[in-house]
Amino acid sequence: MTFKELVEKAYEAMEFAYTPYSKFNVGAALLTKSGKVYTGCNVEIASLGATNCAERTAIFKAISEGEKVYTAIAVVSSSKDFTYPCGICRQVIVEFGKDIDIIVAKDYDYEVYKIDELLPHSFTGIDIK
Ligand code: THU
Repeated sequence: MTFKELVEKAYEAMEFAYTPYSKFNVGAALLTKSGKVYTGCNVEIASLGATNCAERTAIFKAISEGEKVYTAIAVVSSSKDFTYPCGICRQVIVEFGKDIDIIVAKDYDYEVYKIDELLPHSFTGIDIK
């Protein structure tokens, strides 16, 4: 699975975004070490704090099916600009490792980051002793 193919999967997932309040659609595609892809979209709830981002939808789907080792996650949105994972999603991503390639894409253009670049000095499980 190439980064470009993963970005395409994220765009497919974005079609399912449930965004009656913001109309800001986001899609994510998570690649597991075993080669499976879990996709997600954002899901908005009238009590807005209950909203779930696309990245977390994809990760929670994977976790709930027993997959917890990831190599990459692609994120796309309906914006004309790149959409970077929000703070909560960065915290969720770092929970599952620092080697994951985070692909932020817009059409055929993309940037790739590691979580240490997006969430430096993170607080993780090893800090809880
Ligand atoms: N959103 C995501 O799905 N992922 C992000 O990383 C940034 C924000 C969603 C949440 C909400 O439905 C909409 O974008 C506007 O904040």
